[in-house]
Order: sequence, then C-alpha cells, then structure tokens
Amino acid sequence: MLVTVMLMALPLALAYPEATTAFEVTNLSTFEPSGRDNVSVYRVSFNVTDPSDGAATSCETTWPYAEWDTGYPHEFLANCTNKGWSFKFDDYQSMWDFVLDVKHVSKKRNGKKIKRSAKGMVDDENVLLCTHAGSGFSICRQREGVAFQLDVCKEVKF
Ligand SMILES: *[C@@H]1O[C@H](CO)[C@@H](O)[C@H](O)[C@H]1NC(C)=O
Ligand SMILES: *[C@@H]1O[C@H](CO)[C@@H](O)[C@H](O)[C@H]1NC(C)=O
Ligand SMILES: *[C@@H]1O[C@H](CO)[C@@H](O)[C@H](O)[C@H]1NC(C)=O
Ligand SMILES: *[C@@H]1O[C@H](CO)[C@@H](O)[C@H](O)[C@H]1NC(C)=O
Repeated sequence: MLVTVMLMALPLALAYPEATTAFEVTNLSTFEPSGRDNVSVYRVSFNVTDPSDGAATSCETTWPYAEWDTGYPHEFLANCTNKGWSFKFDDYQSMWDFVLDVKHVSKKRNGKKIKRSAKGMVDDENVLLCTHAGSGFSICRQREGVAFQLDVCKEVKF
C-alpha cells in the first residue's frame, strides 16, 4: 500500500522539480494602541525566511492611530532590513485578522533574478495569541512554538 502511494507520488515530484518551499515567519508581533495618548502607533513586525535560498529579513511597519482603518500597507512596502523584500496586507479586518503577503526578489549567481510571492492567513486562533487590555490597547504575539508558513503563490524568473 505504502509503495503504491510512493510510486504514484513520484511522477508529481518529477513534474515540479523546483517546487518551492513555503516562507517561514517567526516573531510576528502586532500592536493596536488605545488612542488615549494620541501618540502610540499601530505596529506590525516579523522575521521571515525564504528557505529556497536561505535569505532572511526583519520587517516592520507603523501607522498613526488616526489612520486606524486605512493606514495598513495596501501596496507592497519595502521596509525590511534587507533589500529585495516587501510586504502588504490583504483582506485586512484587524491586527489579528488579515492575510500577510510577502514578496522576495533574489539574485541568482548567473545574474538572473527570481521573484517569489507568498501568503498566509493571520488569525488569533492558530497564529497569534492576543491580549486585549481593558484600557483599549491590544498586543498580539506569534504563538510559542507555532510555525507560521506563507505558501508561495507566484514565482517569476527574469
Ligand atoms: C521579536 O520582536 C520583538 C519586537 O519586534 C523584539 O523586541 C525581539 O527582540 C524579537 N525577538 C527575537 C528573538 O527576534
Ligand atoms: C491628535 O493627533 C492629531 C493628528 O496628529 C491632531 O490633529 C489632534 O489635534 C490630536 N489630538 C489631541 C487631543 O492631541
Ligand atoms: C529577527 O530579525 C532581527 C533583526 O534582523 C534579528 O536580530 C533577530 O535575531 C531575528 N529573530 C529571529 C527569531 O530570527
Ligand atoms: C520602517 O521600519 C522602521 C523600523 O525598522 C519603523 O520605525 C518605521 O516606522 C517603518 N516605516 C514605515 C513606513 O512603516
């Protein structure tokens, strides 16, 4: 039985020799201010690696309290510690309900570039653990020991 399954899986593996591995997000953290001090900002930060070439970076964005529902990154924002990385949020509902969309452009040794886009759903059931303070702010952190993977949905060579 097991042998049959393996034999059936083999042609698939051969058909996609460069099947890409999911990006891995660690240390995802989000913060929603209470608005009381008019100074604290919305903040999202995370680390991400692209296992296909081992590249890693650390990304962050902030936006003012006044832009609570519009300030999140609608378009790809290149605010990571390494060049070639950018990110945006899709289907943003709250700091614990959105799709994280990360783009990574890497240069291969032959001078060609490869661009990969990967997405993953952020929620407060599987990915984040949130604390909602009575005074109005919320802090969410990636759950301890939980791997958050972004599935590669697009890969373009150029
Ligand atoms: C995780 O991120 C927080 C804030 O963004 C930072 O203070 C902390 O050092 C990070 N931890 C690791 C292990 O990277
Ligand atoms: C809060 O910040 C906004 C924009 O920076 C400003 O227009 C407003 O006057 C501030 N409100 C208070 C109470 O400080
Ligand atoms: C996240 O990135 C920061 C900055 O590059 C780095 O100092 C830290 O070690 C990274 N944390 C993890 C868990 O990879
Ligand atoms: C870019 O990241 C830095 C920290 O790395 C942060 O202070 C800044 O607010 C971010 N800029 C934007 C536009 O999100």
